[in-house]
Amino acid sequence: MERGWSTRRGVFLCLAVSLLPPGRANTFAINCSGFHQHGVDPAAFQAIFNQKAFRPVTNYTIPTQVNISFTLSAILDVDAQLQLLTSFLWLNMVWDNSFISWDPKECGHVNKFTVTAENLWLPDIFIVESMNVDQTPEGLSAFVTNDGHVVYSKPMRVTSICSLDIFYFPFDEQNCTLTFSSFIYTVDSMLLGMDKEVWEITDTSQDIVRTQGEWELLGISKATPRMFVGSSLYDQIMFYVAIRRRPSLYVINLLVPSGFLVAIDALSFYLPAESGNRAPFKITLLLGYNVFLLLMKDLLPASGTPLISVYFALCLSLMVLSLLETVFITYLLHLATTQPPPMPRWLHSLLLLCTCPRKCCPMAPHKGNQGLGLTPAQLPGLKEPVELVGKAPGPGEAALTGVSGGTGAQREQEAQEQRRVELWVEFSHMMDTLLFRLYLLFLASSILTVIGLWNT
Ligand SMILES: *[C@@H]1O[C@H](CO)[C@@H](O)[C@H](O)[C@H]1NC(C)=O
Ligand SMILES: *[C@@H]1O[C@H](CO)[C@@H](O)[C@H](O)[C@H]1NC(C)=O
Ligand SMILES: *[C@@H]1O[C@H](CO)[C@@H](O)[C@H](O)[C@H]1NC(C)=O
Ligand SMILES: *[C@@H]1O[C@H](CO)[C@@H](O)[C@H](O)[C@H]1NC(C)=O
Repeated sequence: MERGWSTRRGVFLCLAVSLLPPGRANTFAINCSGFHQHGVDPAAFQAIFNQKAFRPVTNYTIPTQVNISFTLSAILDVDAQLQLLTSFLWLNMVWDNSFISWDPKECGHVNKFTVTAENLWLPDIFIVESMNVDQTPEGLSAFVTNDGHVVYSKPMRVTSICSLDIFYFPFDEQNCTLTFSSFIYTVDSMLLGMDKEVWEITDTSQDIVRTQGEWELLGISKATPRMFVGSSLYDQIMFYVAIRRRPSLYVINLLVPSGFLVAIDALSFYLPAESGNRAPFKITLLLGYNVFLLLMKDLLPASGTPLISVYFALCLSLMVLSLLETVFITYLLHLATTQPPPMPRWLHSLLLLCTCPRKCCPMAPHKGNQGLGLTPAQLPGLKEPVELVGKAPGPGEAALTGVSGGTGAQREQEAQEQRRVELWVEFSHMMDTLLFRLYLLFLASSILTVIGLWNT
């Protein structure tokens, strides 16, 4: 196709050349006399406007060099579900039009003016990743200089496909590619170059993007691999746009409240298990957490499994586990104070071992006085469950009503019963403490794991 045009253009050029005064340099010179007095004469440019359908070169074996640069002015949307990045950029293109040339000395040193772009040949640079048709506004102008240099820039709203990885949300960084290439011109007809250095593009873009939005521009780098399509080789320039999410919104709205709720859940272990307040408190917390998750659902990415979802699931399961633990301890205490089964010998000795003074066995925080090495019988707090036994109707009642009788055997039996209750209560508290420590360990290790994963 190019060759067909080439020969036709050749004939046309030969005709044009033969009509004009001899001298190669002036072949396409525009007569610009009067430009500075009456403005540009459209007739002088008509010949160039008529040629806009053809690539503006005199020798078709020489490819047109188009130098490009762009300024990324906004990152409008990053859609993880559709894997689309919507950005706004200004594309600058610079190329030489061999047909345009005039002598500025003839026209009062006018060496540059604008021409509406639709009257000129424009390179068909597009973005390979773009997922929408080019919506270039009409009526844009290009600068032309007296040596045929054309500078054209156009705004582009680019919705480009980009492989987005939201695993590290909200601390994620994305690396999207914008590949500029020509639709139809192969390397024989068009070469792409850089109009500005990449660091200049990065600097200007960073200055503009910095002021707004959720995303921060980390940097832009480029690569220039050529692209084979069938047997044709196309020149292209790839820009890697690295962006990072500003996480503060998500940290404040998601991570901090969630962390507070888990902290309160952990602290609620300090509510005495006997009081019966702990389980309702934990259920309320669990409910609150579910409401929180429902409210904040919109802030999370719509697809994929980011680490933050794992973190939420972890927090929820920690709360459920702590509730289960409370249920278990409440049951154990109830069992201990109503119908304590005989304590297995090994458990008894273990308990003795643990309550021995200076044996550093974990003690429940709300029973700090036990840590001083007092035996359970000396503790005022532990009398409470025993009194509860007296008040509770049930199998224990028969034994206790006999207390007033006061024979030696009965007193012996009653003392044994009380001792058993004390042991079981103590065992429950020990279990509570142990499970609390395990909970804390699990909490710390899982949160450290999540933080560690976020940091990689
Ligand atoms: C340019 O045009 C003016 C009239 O507009 C004419 O007088 C002048 O001779 C022309 N110059 C050339 C080099 O053709
Ligand atoms: C066109 O350019 C090619 C390569 O630069 C050169 O070999 C050839 O002579 C040129 N043709 C003309 C007519 O100048
Ligand atoms: C394009 O860039 C190259 C190298 O940077 C330079 O040699 C060439 O003159 C430029 N072309 C245009 C039309 O600006
Ligand atoms: C983006 O990815 C490309 C290759 O896929 C790589 O060359 C480039 O260094 C990456 N940029 C950043 C900032 O990670």
